[in-house]
Amino acid sequence: MSKSTFTIEEMDIKLKTNYIGTNFIFYDEIGSTNEELLKDNTITQHGSVLFADNQFKGRGRLSREWISYKDNSLTFSILLTEKLNAKTLNLINFAAAISVAEAIENLFQLDIRLKWPNDVLVVTRKVCGILVESISKGDKIERVVVGIGVNVNQPMFEGHYNIPPTSIRKEFGKVVSRERLLAEILNEFETNLKKVHKNPLIILDNWRMRCKMIGEKVKVQDGEKEIFGIFEDIDENGFLILRDNKGTKKIFNGDVSLK
Ligand code: BTN
Repeated sequence: MSKSTFTIEEMDIKLKTNYIGTNFIFYDEIGSTNEELLKDNTITQHGSVLFADNQFKGRGRLSREWISYKDNSLTFSILLTEKLNAKTLNLINFAAAISVAEAIENLFQLDIRLKWPNDVLVVTRKVCGILVESISKGDKIERVVVGIGVNVNQPMFEGHYNIPPTSIRKEFGKVVSRERLLAEILNEFETNLKKVHKNPLIILDNWRMRCKMIGEKVKVQDGEKEIFGIFEDIDENGFLILRDNKGTKKIFNGDVSLK
């Protein structure tokens, strides 16, 4: 196994959080950071971050896989064990997407847009995916894991993708520091997570502002099912409101694309 090029100290210097990432668990190699953090009950501290330098079986939304490359990507998961309820899960998702957007804007001034429910794009190209998963006992949520994968220094992408992928390196034109970017994402996430609980309307408005599909004609693909309509808005829980000639309906899952 080759030695990692990720330097925890370099990340630590830039980390300004009170609890997100203060317990940092580093793996050279692991199947999925989400899977590990969901099942490892020895990790209990709220805000713990489990990071993999090489994630070789990454999980994506809708049972897809998330492909990442050693030394070129950020693949990590954040554990939340406090103030959990099912209604805030989508908002946590939005808070994560906004945090990645803000971090990339702060450091690289790229034109970042958000796509429902949890993609981070540079204009139309996907730079980051987010997968929030949870474990419940009865109706009590015990652990929430916020998994974030960012394409950072990949020079190019091969293969076929639903949405064309990109990396920060491709868009910014230079290799960038993964440590600096990770610290910035975690800093922003701690701030945004506070808003999820104290002022969720700010999170919803911030997300709306960054989603350029609202008001547009879209197609929602959910498995075999295709639904067409106008992306009217998101509701207070982050679900998509779609309008067609019969009225409005709520969309809880699926892939949205412009029509
Ligand atoms: C998607 O766009 O489909 C979501 C991708 C989420 C990928 C991240 S990488 C870190 C974490 N661990 C996983 O197995 N998946 C998430």
